[in-house]
Amino acid sequence: MRYQFYREHKYVSSALNDLERLIAQTDFCDSASLEGVKRSFEDLAEMLKGHAQYENERLHVLLNRKNSTIPACRHVEEEHAAQDAQLSQIGELIQGISLESDEEKKIERGYQLYLAYRHFVADNLAHLHEEETQILPELQRLYSDSELQQVEAGTYREMTPDQMIAMMNILFPHMNRQDRQAFLVDILSLEPEKFEVVWQSIQFSIAETERLAIQRKMKNL
Ligand SMILES: [Fe+2]
Ligand SMILES: [Fe+2]
Repeated sequence: MRYQFYREHKYVSSALNDLERLIAQTDFCDSASLEGVKRSFEDLAEMLKGHAQYENERLHVLLNRKNSTIPACRHVEEEHAAQDAQLSQIGELIQGISLESDEEKKIERGYQLYLAYRHFVADNLAHLHEEETQILPELQRLYSDSELQQVEAGTYREMTPDQMIAMMNILFPHMNRQDRQAFLVDILSLEPEKFEVVWQSIQFSIAETERLAIQRKMKNL
């Protein structure tokens, strides 16, 4: 297989769906439950904005550098801007429920929030699909695997081992063995000294058979 980006979309998809289930189950008359939705939404919004910024700055810049003309590049950047607007609207809907004093109206506003958020999830899942089926093949067409791997060199140069461990602890439960191995191979290849520290910690969260397979792969690099 060619070098891949977007493996973290598995986590993004899971996070989007977790919040949809939380909103679906929330009693909006209960202020503690509403506060929980608000906090989860703020965490998700921050993660999505950081993810979009990474894609604009690290990936789309590569397409522009080679004068790629695929419409998807412009389209997904427009969607990143639209996503910011949707997130603001959802934030306002949550705020509106908090400020509402009438219980019946709170329930109605909560249902409107659920509909708006579920629509946002649908848009976002289609967006992830477009990136993986349009942007990724174009990047693979224009660049070699080793050139693509260098995209993460700057990312890992800036990260401390502790930040790498924290990132993996969030992402790895949502991924398969090949995804986890790809992250570890990148770090070993690009930052071998940091890898030693990371591996000492992260290996304990990986099942034994998988850990042995990864160690064999590392030795052959
Ligand atoms: Fe995106
Ligand atoms: Fe993405």
